[in-house]
Amino acid sequence: MADLLKDFNLLFESSSHKPRLFFAPGRVNLIGEHTDYNGGYVFPAALTIGTYMVVREREDGMFHLASRNFEQRVSFSLQNLTYQKEDDWGNYPKGIVKELVAEGVGLKGADILYEGTIPNGAGLSSSASIGMVTAYGLATLGNAEITRVDLAKLCQRMENRFIGVNSGIMDQYAVGLCKEKHAIYLNTMTMHAEDVPLELHGHKIVITNTNKRRGLADSKYNERRAECEEALARIQKQKPMIQTLSDLSVNELSEVEEFINDERLYRRVKHVVTENNRTTNAKEALEAGNLTIFGEQMIGSHLSLKNDYEVTGKELDSLFEAQRKVEGCVGTRMTGAGFGGCTVSIVKEEVVETFQLQVAKEYEKATGLEPTFYICEAGNGVHECELEGQN
Ligand code: GLA
Repeated sequence: MADLLKDFNLLFESSSHKPRLFFAPGRVNLIGEHTDYNGGYVFPAALTIGTYMVVREREDGMFHLASRNFEQRVSFSLQNLTYQKEDDWGNYPKGIVKELVAEGVGLKGADILYEGTIPNGAGLSSSASIGMVTAYGLATLGNAEITRVDLAKLCQRMENRFIGVNSGIMDQYAVGLCKEKHAIYLNTMTMHAEDVPLELHGHKIVITNTNKRRGLADSKYNERRAECEEALARIQKQKPMIQTLSDLSVNELSEVEEFINDERLYRRVKHVVTENNRTTNAKEALEAGNLTIFGEQMIGSHLSLKNDYEVTGKELDSLFEAQRKVEGCVGTRMTGAGFGGCTVSIVKEEVVETFQLQVAKEYEKATGLEPTFYICEAGNGVHECELEGQN
């Protein structure tokens, strides 16, 4: 990253403060999709790709931002922390500054250069990554004592209030708290979390990008959330003790079907309830070293997201069908919000190459799009890095 510092020095005037380097990863969710805003289980891991941030304090209340990924530079002052459409990507850091200030963190301004290595809009949490690296980096510079869990919640608030996407807590939590070579099993109701070793016995995690632009993903996402809220309200009229959809067991589904009294809303609920079961089964299977059962849960998850939750679409489904056919692919499914983005597959090491060739061929035939593959390792959550090249 010596290079990054060189660019930083070219972009910004020198100062007596020293620049520091922070990194936040992206994440891949192994299973537990669209459960986090319903009080359910998620099972994500952090990636080794993510967002780097070189940051140096200023004293004049100004924030000057640049990114190696976007030409546009963005500046704003502590006095004017409002969302501006024309600030584009700069709204994410701006929203974080606003939330940190609201928490009483003493910020005085900063020069910042970012470099992201996650493809944008791929559903690998590039937004939680830039949010968390900014929150963690600025909180560290401001000597604020905020736990990682609270920083994750702060980032979620920023996405909800400032950006207007009603996302759950999974992405920010994974980006903030995941550990190398582990996945995190999180109960989003109690916020109880367990680090589970990702022992894959000669298998690799392969992420495949549909390379389809997600388009209406954010509005569709909010629509699903609203559907879950409506279904919950109908259930609560008859069963007031139910606090979230995840309080329901599979056995209660037929009972609440009547209360919901709407076929589409019922399927949304069915997905959430069965997905919680699959997530718990998958976590237990991983702990027991049983990848076959783990893979079966992934397949079940995708089918439920396709048929009941309806968040897949032609591209994700084509990848899924091509991937599940490959011998040595023990499990595969869409990951993240859906409507495009990526799939995650568990593939025997020896067949990873064949997998890519076979899947690319079939996917291109079905959609006319070329997929991109990432063979990934589970990395650490947000942290400070040594900044090389500093004198
Ligand atoms: C997005 C959101 C998460 C979660 C997933 C779906 O990634 O940011 O909070 O809801 O979609 O599981």
